[in-house]
Amino acid sequence: MLTGALTLPTLETPRLRLRWMTEADIPALFELFSHPEVTRYWSWSAYTERAQAEKLLENIHKHFAERSLFQWGYARREDDRIIGTCTLAELSGQHRRASLGYALNHAHWGHGYGREAVARVVEFGFTSLELHRLEADVDPRNTGSIRVLEGLGFQHEGYQRQRYFLNGELQDAVLYGLLRPEWRPDSAAS
Ligand SMILES: CC(C)(COP(=O)(O)OP(=O)(O)OC[C@H]1O[C@@H](n2cnc3c(N)ncnc32)[C@H](O)[C@@H]1OP(=O)(O)O)[C@@H](O)C(=O)NCCC(=O)NCCS
Repeated sequence: MLTGALTLPTLETPRLRLRWMTEADIPALFELFSHPEVTRYWSWSAYTERAQAEKLLENIHKHFAERSLFQWGYARREDDRIIGTCTLAELSGQHRRASLGYALNHAHWGHGYGREAVARVVEFGFTSLELHRLEADVDPRNTGSIRVLEGLGFQHEGYQRQRYFLNGELQDAVLYGLLRPEWRPDSAAS
């Protein structure tokens, strides 16, 4: 997948640019992941130190080099400041599948930016990467995230009880999946 590429390709949407992130984006990454609402159902607790964002960027670059993780930052076209990230993880060329993750700076919630970015990455996964299956798991209380997935056609596939211990509590996970033949390309248009 993306053989030989040193960075992720830039993806465009009507309002956003999804792009490779560099050291210059560390303050924006820190701001994104230091808000407790953003990490309420996330796989780690809110950042408290800039060094955590530095480590995140280092891992994003390292795992892209291994082709196990594609994590774009996304910014509004007008200022190019990173407001969120969108991820294809657990990439498997053999099984043609990946898992999807996404987050948006809390200050920008409620304007559909998250959905717009995710839709573009779904499109990239099914077209450019020729994946067959995308999957995601989400806390049942994470209504905004569930709306994003269901709006893109993801199907409810299961429920795992107390799958995570995060933010001091056991959390359930709802499993979602979307297959290439079920995907409607028009859902990518925001
Ligand atoms: C998930 C996330 C990216 C959504 O981003 P967003 O751009 O604000 O989403 P949207 O504005 O497109 O909202 C999506 C839908 O959810 C609804 N919604 C958003 N937050 C909601 C809430 N707290 N309660 C109920 N509905 C909510 C919106 O009204 C919208 O509904 P619609 O489909 O009828 O239009 C953002 O909420 C986020 O970063 N959450 C924290 C990180 C996270 O949990 N990621 C997912 C892990 S699985």
